[in-house]
Amino acid sequence: MKITMIGTGYVGLVTGTCFAEFGHHVTCVDKDKTKIDKLLQGDIPIYEPGLKRLVAKNCKEGRLRFTTDLSDSVASGDAVFLAVGTPTSRRGDGYADLTYIYEATKEIATELKGYTVIVDKSTVPVGTADQVARIIRETNPAAEFDVASNPEFLREGAAISDFMRPDRVVIGVETTRAEEVLREIYKPLYLQETPIVKTDIKTAELTKYAANAFLATKISYINEIALLCDSIGADVVSLAKGIGMDGRIGGKFLHPGPGYGGSCFPKDTMALMRIAQEQGQSLRIVEAAVEVNGAQKAKMVKKVRDILGGQEAGKTIAVLGLTFKPETDDMRDAPAITILPALLEKGAVIKAHDPQGMDEAKHLLPNGIIYTDNAYEACTDADAVILMTEWNQYRALDLEKIHTLMRSHHFIDLRNVYEPGHVREKGFTYSGVGRS
Ligand SMILES: NC(=O)c1ccc[n+]([C@@H]2O[C@H](COP(=O)([O-])OP(=O)(O)OC[C@H]3O[C@@H](n4cnc5c(N)ncnc54)[C@H](O)[C@@H]3O)[C@@H](O)[C@H]2O)c1
Repeated sequence: MKITMIGTGYVGLVTGTCFAEFGHHVTCVDKDKTKIDKLLQGDIPIYEPGLKRLVAKNCKEGRLRFTTDLSDSVASGDAVFLAVGTPTSRRGDGYADLTYIYEATKEIATELKGYTVIVDKSTVPVGTADQVARIIRETNPAAEFDVASNPEFLREGAAISDFMRPDRVVIGVETTRAEEVLREIYKPLYLQETPIVKTDIKTAELTKYAANAFLATKISYINEIALLCDSIGADVVSLAKGIGMDGRIGGKFLHPGPGYGGSCFPKDTMALMRIAQEQGQSLRIVEAAVEVNGAQKAKMVKKVRDILGGQEAGKTIAVLGLTFKPETDDMRDAPAITILPALLEKGAVIKAHDPQGMDEAKHLLPNGIIYTDNAYEACTDADAVILMTEWNQYRALDLEKIHTLMRSHHFIDLRNVYEPGHVREKGFTYSGVGRS
């Protein structure tokens, strides 16, 4: 199959590369020339484990190419995937901003020749496929096309394995012809018997939001239970095992922390609430999950302040990890973006390290943060260390060395990576989330 991927970001680049790995011929298009130039030189504009090798292999084998010009590939392609961003609207009302989707649709509409399936891979509100179809019909009345929805469920940091071995593929289609094209594209997954969930388009659009809101709710739930554990003196890590081993509950997404972040959960929960409101409905469970998440970040700031004796002014805090999760350089809506400015504002000196996220962090965090080359440099002369993101590099820190480097010895483990007793034995006070 000949596929055009519009948008070469975290989703488009991985998806396009994996489709090429399946054996399809893929053209990845992006309007960001710097990004495309990097890719043409063999550089990967994002950090995603394993991606560089896979891109190089498929380019070499002639199935993957990058361009800023969509005309040729759209005209000769079987399917065009829209994988552009759908951030929260700048109006601040929680709606998804569909500007990029509609702009890209207009651009492809004029180039369509022969039957083509236009596939929404981006996370889009219910009804977007109808708008995409309307724009194409208005721009190019002669175009022969169907619109389909194929939401993406990959996780940054494990994106390639998630895409190559998904739990399921959801396709929202309303014609047999579009279904056949999508089934052909995903045919290589039949070998491993990946379930294809076929629905109408609106259901597919809503499925993605419902999945993300459910996972966000699970995180907020365990975060609230962790706070209760703190009050009671119970241990949330054992508790999470105790409930997660129940197959009806499942152990994933039961890890308390500083609140969820990233490029999807915050914006998708907000957008889902707006979708419901437009239908005259309210999603009170999702509303609560969002509220709890906001409060969780504020509670982490208070936790740090309390540990530092009630005020941050003049105290030095080492922060290990800035990205919203490990194995990505994505800083969008990371908890660090809320927590660090709050500490900085009250006079803390912040020394931060992240294996991949520091370049992006410098754009998103206020000036005044000191970025260091490694975790130990961050800890030098610090009063407290906060483990913000559970990168593997931070899982086996030399605590004795850190103890000698620090001024005071508070270890604040916002990801519950360490055994409290082990850290205390090394001479620190230890505070996790729900581990008192
Ligand atoms: N990041 C994730 O983990 C993830 C997972 C599942 C779904 N999604 C969804 O996938 C979509 C894309 O997310 P992302 O994280 O890859 O975004 P991203 O910001 O990393 O990438 C989007 C890309 O689209 C490009 N673009 C915008 N308009 C364009 C146009 N008209 N022509 C060509 N290129 C254009 C941008 O330059 C950018 O490179 C979103 O809807 C998101 O919600 C993301």
